[in-house]
Amino acid sequence: MSDLSLRLRDALDRSAAGASTVALTAAVERLSDRYRSVRPAGAPILAGPAEVLAYAVYRMPATYAAVRLALLQGVRAGLGPISSVADLGGGTGAAVWAAAEALPDVRAATVLEQVAAARDLGRAIAAEDLGETSWRDWRVGEPVPSADLVSAAYVLSELSEEQQTRLVADAMAAAGAAVLVVEPGTPDGHRRVLAARELLLAAGWRVLAPCPHALACPLADADWCHFAARVNRSALHRRVKSAELSHEDEKFSYVLAVRRSTRQDLGDGARDARSIVRGGRVVRHPLKRKGLVELQLCRPDGTAGREVVSKRHGAAYKAARDVAWGDTWPPAAD
Ligand SMILES: C[S@@+](CC[C@H](N)C(=O)[O-])C[C@H]1O[C@@H](n2cnc3c(N)ncnc32)[C@H](O)[C@@H]1O
Repeated sequence: MSDLSLRLRDALDRSAAGASTVALTAAVERLSDRYRSVRPAGAPILAGPAEVLAYAVYRMPATYAAVRLALLQGVRAGLGPISSVADLGGGTGAAVWAAAEALPDVRAATVLEQVAAARDLGRAIAAEDLGETSWRDWRVGEPVPSADLVSAAYVLSELSEEQQTRLVADAMAAAGAAVLVVEPGTPDGHRRVLAARELLLAAGWRVLAPCPHALACPLADADWCHFAARVNRSALHRRVKSAELSHEDEKFSYVLAVRRSTRQDLGDGARDARSIVRGGRVVRHPLKRKGLVELQLCRPDGTAGREVVSKRHGAAYKAARDVAWGDTWPPAAD
């Protein structure tokens, strides 16, 4: 576990100290039920301090892990230095924790969130561990402050289609360099990510990750593009989810796009053009059997399909043994 995820775990433990496990577990169940039925929220789902604390305890580690992995995949695809972040519908701030971990140049973050109790808890959780972070009351349609990166994680599903379009448009207008949208790794989460991707491409942005091309998504009809981030569950996390396993895999879909003609677009994070993704993306857990590795790939030519790498491929086989779901293939040259 990374240093910051351990600190997040400790901060969540401190926040929940003294709270009734029974009440927290009941609130987690209520929230899970509500989130399972995907529909626009007429009123905030995080209705009060009990829901906010439950949400933080059971969802922050997962959101943190998903956003962190999406950003790391973006960095590997050439995302350049990001010094400021604005997170829309940021809840208790999981995405800005992830940005602080994945993007070493971040100096300032703003969490825009409509629920006061979420802002208050997020501020308290972040107090000792995050750098300069401000927390603002915000609803879709209200001004978004400028930042290098504007993100929205697990927000679109609570919005009407019109609000989703507005959020992406406002994110593009405010982002100096990059926009990140993360949604649950479900067929409809992927559909919302694809709609955001369409808006970004139509406005001339370049998709940096996960797609290795700007063509139609080859997974849109029969499948859905998603990834998995490992989450180590704390004792508290296990308790409130009535779970036994010490980990879970958070499935998520995402798109990370950069404004053209910026340092980001030139891959300034690693000026060497080789570090910009030229290959395909591994879109499922690789199947590793004796002497061969089977990869499901999304390819730069806009197709998706299977590739088998066997021992007779020599160095490529060795590389394939180490490849993971979400990595690029073939791996970028160092
Ligand atoms: C599932 S939570 C995600 C919170 C946070 N992004 C995370 O992943 O931990 C959805 C968030 O969207 C916010 N939200 C819902 N409708 C909104 C609206 N119309 N304007 C602004 N935020 C909204 C909620 O307040 C909530 O914080």
